[in-house]
Amino acid sequence: MKFEHSIRGKIADFGTMVFSEFSRLFNEHRAIDLSRGFPHFKRNERLLTLMQKHIAEDRNHYLSVNGHKGLRKNIANLYQKYYGATYDGSTEVTITAGASQAIYTILSSMVRENDEVIIFEPAYDLYAPTVEVNQGKPVYVKLEQPDFHIDWSKVQKLITPQTRMIILTNPNNPTGSLLKAHDLQELHRTVNGTDILLLSDESLQFLVYDGYEHHSIANTESLAKRSFIVGGFGKTFQVTGWRTGFCLAPEDLMHEFRKLHQYIAFNVNSAAQFALSDYLEEGVDFKQIASEFEAKRDYFCQLLESTPFKAIPVKSGIFQPVTFETSVGYTDMELALKLIKEVGVAGVPLSAYVHDKTNYGMLRFCFARPDSLLEEAVEKLKTIDFL
Ligand SMILES: Cc1ncc(COP(=O)(O)O)c(C=O)c1O
Repeated sequence: MKFEHSIRGKIADFGTMVFSEFSRLFNEHRAIDLSRGFPHFKRNERLLTLMQKHIAEDRNHYLSVNGHKGLRKNIANLYQKYYGATYDGSTEVTITAGASQAIYTILSSMVRENDEVIIFEPAYDLYAPTVEVNQGKPVYVKLEQPDFHIDWSKVQKLITPQTRMIILTNPNNPTGSLLKAHDLQELHRTVNGTDILLLSDESLQFLVYDGYEHHSIANTESLAKRSFIVGGFGKTFQVTGWRTGFCLAPEDLMHEFRKLHQYIAFNVNSAAQFALSDYLEEGVDFKQIASEFEAKRDYFCQLLESTPFKAIPVKSGIFQPVTFETSVGYTDMELALKLIKEVGVAGVPLSAYVHDKTNYGMLRFCFARPDSLLEEAVEKLKTIDFL
């Protein structure tokens, strides 16, 4: 079937998300998928039991548009406990269809034509297309290597009267870097006295390793006042397909968010909200969960030692960036494609997360997989003779 008119959509310059492109390729070549970010090495039995219970008890219908009341309260309690921040569950917390919908809704309710939005790169690939579909302008700032930190003097030079928002990803995907207390002070200096809004994507917030601390925007009241904070449970509890995330914001900002949320999502996965609410209510040992992910990271990094890839263990998240010998001449994109087609392992090149496709000479592998799968992947990587 073909429409007889030529059509140019609103985000015509953006291609398919790198994951969709890579999924097609690794399915075709039957490669091991270490590219997509869905942890699946341990079933969360208690949470699955709660989900089954709520489906059986017929929590299968629309809920309040802003989300299950108890879940919102429990999320507010988490922010009180971990960050000392006070959010009112009824007016300042909204449950969303994953972090993705929260991000889409924030940007679509706040970004106007010609508004500038500062995005740090490498960046999770949802931000820029959503800014552009709302006629805003992404303003890119590269994170500084080797540890992918922010050079705040560069950010300060890019602030203009059109700057509407700064997007932070903390923990960062794909680099695994974390904001430090010093970053929040610099951020405060940068936005103080302006009406710039902040979007802090903290959806990997409970997966922080080696004793590092997660400094949420919620920690700093002067920043929290102008911030939308996005979180999620999909990765931490290994249920990414349930599509449940959340947004926190002061009441006035949340009021604007909800005006659009009601039309975009109306309501999200009811049974999952009941299950998550009960699960949080019972008390979750986030430290224990993080230590299980940390052990995965350690095991994967240890396995990588017998391959041509080098890894500095990440501080957070579920992805391990690796470097390779670039003098051989492959860009990271070329190497990622060669790995899928010839070696049978899928990772994502870091260049896929920058608008100008800068070659970082780095790939990103998801380590939150069963040991047997990691071992199988590494056996294949060991056979590489072209690096
Ligand atoms: C930094 C970041 N933000 C948002 C998302 C989207 O999360 P969700 O699956 O909850 O929509 C991801 C998923 O990988 C992510 O890594």
